[in-house]
Amino acid sequence: MIKKNEEYLVEIIDNGFRGEGIAKIDGFTIFIPNAIKGEKVKIKILKVTTSHAFGKIISILESSKWREDVDCYTYQRCGGCNLRHMNYEQTIQIKKNAVESTLKKALGKEVVISEVIKMQKPYHYRNKLQYPVGINKEGQPIMGVFAERTHDIIPTNDCKIQNKLGQKIANAIYQFIVENNIEVYNEKTLEGSLRHIIIRIGIKTKEVMLILVSNTNQIPKEQALIQFITNKFPEIKTVIKNINCKNTNVILGNINEVLLGKGYIYDDLGAYRFKISPMSFYQINPIQTEKLYQKAIEFAELTGREIIFDLYCGIGTIGIFASQNAKKIYGIETIPEAIEDAKENAKLNGVKNAEFFVGDVEKTLPSLLKEYKLEPDVVFLDPPRKGCDRLTLETLLTIKPKKIVYVSCNPATLSRDVKILEEKYELNDLSICDMFPFTYHVECVAVLQLKENM
Ligand SMILES: C[S@@+](CC[C@H](N)C(=O)[O-])C[C@H]1O[C@@H](n2cnc3c(N)ncnc32)[C@H](O)[C@@H]1O
Repeated sequence: MIKKNEEYLVEIIDNGFRGEGIAKIDGFTIFIPNAIKGEKVKIKILKVTTSHAFGKIISILESSKWREDVDCYTYQRCGGCNLRHMNYEQTIQIKKNAVESTLKKALGKEVVISEVIKMQKPYHYRNKLQYPVGINKEGQPIMGVFAERTHDIIPTNDCKIQNKLGQKIANAIYQFIVENNIEVYNEKTLEGSLRHIIIRIGIKTKEVMLILVSNTNQIPKEQALIQFITNKFPEIKTVIKNINCKNTNVILGNINEVLLGKGYIYDDLGAYRFKISPMSFYQINPIQTEKLYQKAIEFAELTGREIIFDLYCGIGTIGIFASQNAKKIYGIETIPEAIEDAKENAKLNGVKNAEFFVGDVEKTLPSLLKEYKLEPDVVFLDPPRKGCDRLTLETLLTIKPKKIVYVSCNPATLSRDVKILEEKYELNDLSICDMFPFTYHVECVAVLQLKENM
């Protein structure tokens, strides 16, 4: 019997989906964060359940050749990276194994990953910084990231995956807050003003959007702050105040007030330029996004004659990427601002064969099919982590496009949805793209081909 607080010597036999080490003691599974397959470690048991236990490393007796010195002082406390203690190559192997075994479990057969698109320089890749601002135990203002599964803010001023300019701007805003005694949001009393700093960066255009999320209509010394920060960083093209007075975990409120500039920025992806608004989704690793979209379009094998649906289209990026090689693109997305951006993005890029519609895919897709009497040849799916709605999958099984190219940031929901689509489709090819280096997150792109005689 494994007991809490007891110490054991174990060998790590595998790494799990989140990179955690897995060991067995008399057949009983122990999960050990930070341990790498092949290592021999001394552990202390922290928690025991009926089916498994959790332990922590006390000492490493035999270290893996993949182990690396951790280069981040907030590692394992912040909810960002999970795999910084190992070599990048090994992080890729863990992600590959996670995708393969999730798909195998769901589909009951081996699935071969044909390509792994790694990142050449897997650092400072994020184009979006989102730091809470609050008050520490000593009553001092604090800015950083939430510790995993808590609302404790860990001071962060040198994140290894954030864009360096974004980090510098956040640090300067924090300095202004401290020097000017700005009253920041206090989660306990629900008083104070500034509660989040969000910075979005067009990596290619070097344009920066600053969003100040405030609990109050007015941020103390608002104009002085804007003047200070834009003088220091002329790359800031627009500043937006977002009002969020609710006692909630949701970062953004519904009201946006443009304090400076036009309220949006541009970024370039491939040969295209995209307008990005505060509420619109935009992939956080644009270097890898270009490769991801290229792969998705390669999988679609377009000839220029196809009618394409870009479902969950965001600001229209995938559809616009595919537009040159298609007859017509129809995009659907739930966020109205994103669809406004998508329409402008089509114009901006001289794309005349794309139309975009606001709505939930599950409802808007059937009505669009009915109203326009359309028969898509290729459907791109790029849903959020929860995957596609059952109704959407059933609609696809009814209309039977020749190809479905499924872009997914969650192997579990991808596998679930592919299992449903397998009724009429064959999973033909699958690649993974490392969009989120040194985290356990992984992006997949899969192509499903309509089976013959369907
Ligand atoms: C992973 S993002 C992909 C966006 C876009 N394809 C891209 O690459 O930037 C998923 C998008 O789906 C949208 N979304 C979420 N649920 C939706 C739904 N039920 N119907 C339509 N769009 C939805 C989100 O707002 C988000 O823009």
